[in-house]
Amino acid sequence: MADITQLILDDHETFRREFAALDGTDEPEQLHEIWEHLGALLETHAAAEEAIFYPQLLRRGDDPEAETLDAIGDHNEIRDGVREAGRYPVGSPPWWDAVRKTRGANSEHMAEEEDDALPDFRRNTPLSVRVDLGHQFLKFKTDHPDARGLDTRDKDPHGYVGAVQARISPGGESGSLGIGSLKGR
Ligand SMILES: [Fe+2]
Ligand SMILES: [Fe+2]
Repeated sequence: MADITQLILDDHETFRREFAALDGTDEPEQLHEIWEHLGALLETHAAAEEAIFYPQLLRRGDDPEAETLDAIGDHNEIRDGVREAGRYPVGSPPWWDAVRKTRGANSEHMAEEEDDALPDFRRNTPLSVRVDLGHQFLKFKTDHPDARGLDTRDKDPHGYVGAVQARISPGGESGSLGIGSLKGR
């Protein structure tokens, strides 16, 4: 069953496992292989949440605005960390610094999603909708293997929330971001 909140938790578990795997080796080739997958998944996961999860949280949650503003700011920090790591040779001291920074930002962010945003969404969204969204989340990930074709630039949190709210307000355009297809359920 592809409940989107479960799929998000599954990715979080992969993040924890792969950051831990980096601790287990100083072999550059292995580090490179793990980081290539982990860095791309961090980017794809954030983009998929922004395309599919947070627009729906903003429609349905109890305190969605604060949670979303926080999340987009955190995603920017995570993206900054991945980008910074990309500037240095894998395994070098500045690369490790960037990876540690990314890991810290991501750990803090996952805790917030797991303690606030995901419970809020589960409480306010029927399982059938969570499963539909789960399918969209999976499709987004298969459409962007290795983060290909993604816009990984930072997003202005207020600009993001404002754009989604304009689309979901009565009379607003609701065709993109996967919102329109779920209207009225
Ligand atoms: Fe997440
Ligand atoms: Fe997130």
